[in-house]
Amino acid sequence: MDVIETDVVIVGAGGAGLRAAIAVAEADPSLNVALTSKVYPMRSHTVAAEGGAAAVIKDNDSLENHFNDTVTGGDWLCDQDAVELFINEAPKELTRMEHWGCPWSREPSGHVAVRPFGGMKVERTWYAADKTGFHMLHTLFQTSLKYPSIKRFDEYYATDLLVEDGRCQGIAAIELRSGQMRVFAAKAVIIATGGAGRIFPFTTNGGVNTGDGAVMAYRAGVPLKDMEFVQYHPTGLPGTGILITEGARGEGGVLINNEGYRYLQDYGLGPPDPWPRKKAMELGPRDRLSQAFWHEERAGKTVATPHGQAVHLDLRHLGEKKINERLPMVRELALSYMGVDPVFKPIPVRPVVHYMMGGIHTDIDAATPLAGLFAAGECACVSINGANRLGSNSLTEILVFGGRAGRGAVEHVRSGGKDVDRTAIEEQAGEAQKRVAALFQKADGTETVVGLRKEMNHIMETGAGIYRSKESLEEACKTIGELRRRYADVRLEDKSNVFNTDLVQVLELGSMLDAAHVLAHSALNREESRGSHQRLDKTERDDETYLKHTLAHYTGEGDPRLEYLDVKITKSPPGERVYGGAAS
Ligand code: FUM
Repeated sequence: MDVIETDVVIVGAGGAGLRAAIAVAEADPSLNVALTSKVYPMRSHTVAAEGGAAAVIKDNDSLENHFNDTVTGGDWLCDQDAVELFINEAPKELTRMEHWGCPWSREPSGHVAVRPFGGMKVERTWYAADKTGFHMLHTLFQTSLKYPSIKRFDEYYATDLLVEDGRCQGIAAIELRSGQMRVFAAKAVIIATGGAGRIFPFTTNGGVNTGDGAVMAYRAGVPLKDMEFVQYHPTGLPGTGILITEGARGEGGVLINNEGYRYLQDYGLGPPDPWPRKKAMELGPRDRLSQAFWHEERAGKTVATPHGQAVHLDLRHLGEKKINERLPMVRELALSYMGVDPVFKPIPVRPVVHYMMGGIHTDIDAATPLAGLFAAGECACVSINGANRLGSNSLTEILVFGGRAGRGAVEHVRSGGKDVDRTAIEEQAGEAQKRVAALFQKADGTETVVGLRKEMNHIMETGAGIYRSKESLEEACKTIGELRRRYADVRLEDKSNVFNTDLVQVLELGSMLDAAHVLAHSALNREESRGSHQRLDKTERDDETYLKHTLAHYTGEGDPRLEYLDVKITKSPPGERVYGGAAS
């Protein structure tokens, strides 16, 4: 088997992976970095981010505001030392992006512009029109090309972490072009593979977001933290799930029900104050807005579309000039996918799965409990997002913690990175290869990827959606458990080696089922309502018992083993979340 020797291997080349690679190269140009990705970097999901990245820059704002908005938005499940560090490093990271060429939108004076975003009491979201992720990813990608020590391995699917002597010593990955398994022998590994939104049927997430990296770590013994917290973004296009950025509401868009009424004022988010809105209504936090939709739908106040119920996002009052300047992609998407021009008509929208607050358990240096393994971005849980992430914190998070993961890996290689045990890890990669080969040999598989995926998607939406209950979660746990067993009989249709996308989908489905399993069990065990985790049978937040992170440990075929870890509170004791003048 071919062995690629390197100092640091990174799995995932989206925003967090690229930022980590640059950080390694900057900190120590003598270290080799292998940057692997299952897709070409520009197809990573960062490219789809629209609305912007948060960091304090204006005089009317303060680091304290950013801290408080983030902690309140996260319903006090955020680790406050991590949030403190994050808000302090955020302005430096976004300024660095400016120096690397990111075309931030400007005020007429030439200063960087910021827009209001949900759950923030002051506008602090830097943006590049409504294609912020696209521009950030380009900026990072171009910057990474400057460093000869970064070698890219595009279209490699990582299957396993190679762990020996209690240390992560590399990965096994399939080179998709040839179908051959390769070993990446490394002293440090960084996982930056994004989220797992695809376990749900209706999501803004690209097809690549199948939780592979997080599950790879989980199977290697690293706990997944707070996986029960799933963010529904309030404004996705019915049918496709394509995101209509919160920036649209930040620029002044309003949400109305089938009576033309701004219904959010009935959900503790009012009153509808005059523009510029500062704190509530359409700029309330995402969990509250998505929950409000759920109630409107049950009250028969939503609008029927060919793709299910929706409410209307009305931008008409912004006028064509502003829409074209600030929200060009929103206009294009609404026209292309809904046949609606927002200059003249409101856009039908509904909540859509957007982000996983949970992920690989890391400390504030992006280090996991497994020596030599780091994680950053959506696949990781530091945790700065708690029970509900604020819009535009995640693009900044990939920079802050991607950078820290890179520097942490360098430190590890310099101080603790002992030699790699080649014999042991090659043997492990050989086992991984046999497992993959067995998929090709199974002639009598009775299950299909599509069939299992549909059942998984369905039960996750009905069992672990915006509102959950003991009953619905028990059903989800049971069904996902059965699907995991049936997965053993999945049939691989395509038996070829070259770019075998069927094989990739089989492997991705395995990851999604494990991620869904953890999610459902973690949610069932958390008998309270907090942020995005709303239980119809346990409607109150219970700080006494659950001001804690869930840690889920892999047990093989059995259910995950759950334990709990105290949340780090440094200066903001749990309080009420107040938006628009009223506690909600
Ligand atoms: O609405 C948006 O543009 C999404 C931003 C985010 O999730 O941070």
